[in-house]
Amino acid sequence: MNFDQKIDRRGTHSVKWDNMEAIYGVSPDDGISMWVADMEFQPPQCVQDAIKKMHDHGVYGYYGDEGPYKDAICWWMKTRHNWQIDPSWIFTTHGLVNGTGMCVDAYTNPGDGVVLFTPVYHAFARVIAAAGREVVECELVNNDGRYEMDFDAYDAQMTGNERMLILCSPHNPGGRVWTRAELAGVAAFAKRHQLILVSDEIHHDLTMPGHTHIPTAHIDGIADRLVTMTATTKTFNIAGSHSGNVIIEDPDLRAQFGKRMAALGLSPNSFGLFMATAAYSPEGAEWVDALKAYLDGNRQMFDAGINAIPGLKSMPLDATYLAWVDFSGTGMSREEFTARVQNEAKIAANHGPTFGSGGDDFLRFNLGAPRAQIEEAVARLQSAFSDLQ
Ligand SMILES: Cc1ncc(COP(=O)(O)O)c(C=O)c1O
Repeated sequence: MNFDQKIDRRGTHSVKWDNMEAIYGVSPDDGISMWVADMEFQPPQCVQDAIKKMHDHGVYGYYGDEGPYKDAICWWMKTRHNWQIDPSWIFTTHGLVNGTGMCVDAYTNPGDGVVLFTPVYHAFARVIAAAGREVVECELVNNDGRYEMDFDAYDAQMTGNERMLILCSPHNPGGRVWTRAELAGVAAFAKRHQLILVSDEIHHDLTMPGHTHIPTAHIDGIADRLVTMTATTKTFNIAGSHSGNVIIEDPDLRAQFGKRMAALGLSPNSFGLFMATAAYSPEGAEWVDALKAYLDGNRQMFDAGINAIPGLKSMPLDATYLAWVDFSGTGMSREEFTARVQNEAKIAANHGPTFGSGGDDFLRFNLGAPRAQIEEAVARLQSAFSDLQ
């Protein structure tokens, strides 16, 4: 567990490093990549050993008997999230963007509305729009640097054409861990408007000290319209394994989902299953605890440095390693603050508007990296905005 180790990812087909110049005009040679949500760390030894074992065996045939893999998922949900699930509730998709697309496909029809609380993870809107459904943006309220929901406003926005709501819990960006009362509010909203509730909980393991993720499944009376999505990939930094869990308790919703999986001929990739089985283990859990402590240190250092720049405000993260920085206090146009970050600080960070309404004044910075890299990024940003000091 050496999170301080710097690993050069250039030239490895890393989307984060090898595509940064084309997208942000920031060279990987002297720039810092802080956009895509994967980390600069190797996964725990148990995951690396699982891949090494496959490699040493050297035969890569079809995977059979998902029993141990599903038992590992059930164990993780029970021990880490106090959530008792049954192996039969689990589908494995090719990641959760795929899971989102599968849900849109299984539970809505072309032209239906799918509700998002924006700003939110950009792939949701992309998938919804590409499937010919309508993206319905319900904007979160930024209450002094903390996102909250305004259900009266959202109720007034509904037209009756909406069929699904995708919740991001914990929320990306902004890092909110939704409270039980907020989750109950979301569940009641879904019921009032007869929406299937898809709860993307991919960031559930990466909570900051003092915050506990509550599975949406813990809210009473929601099971008959709930689909939960989780994955090992964010937690253990194995996004390239492209696997995710779609967990559905309700038999009818499960049958609908299973039918679409079958119709598309989808079955999982053995690499993802081997890695997930190894990751969801006591050794994996120990690594995650150490990772969380390290990310908390990065967050504290980053926030202190950024909030010291007049006009910049980093949202306090309850969870995730994705800092969400508000530049509105600089009085600069979006073009100007973005140009300073990219051209002067030489940092590639996600542009706020890609997350939907409410994101215009923001950039998102990935803190899942060795501390020295985050320190360097802070120093560069302080220098790029030094005229504001
Ligand atoms: C909320 C959320 N869902 C899904 C994903 C991506 O999932 P996957 O890599 O499994 O497709 C991300 C990645 O950042 C995310 O933030």
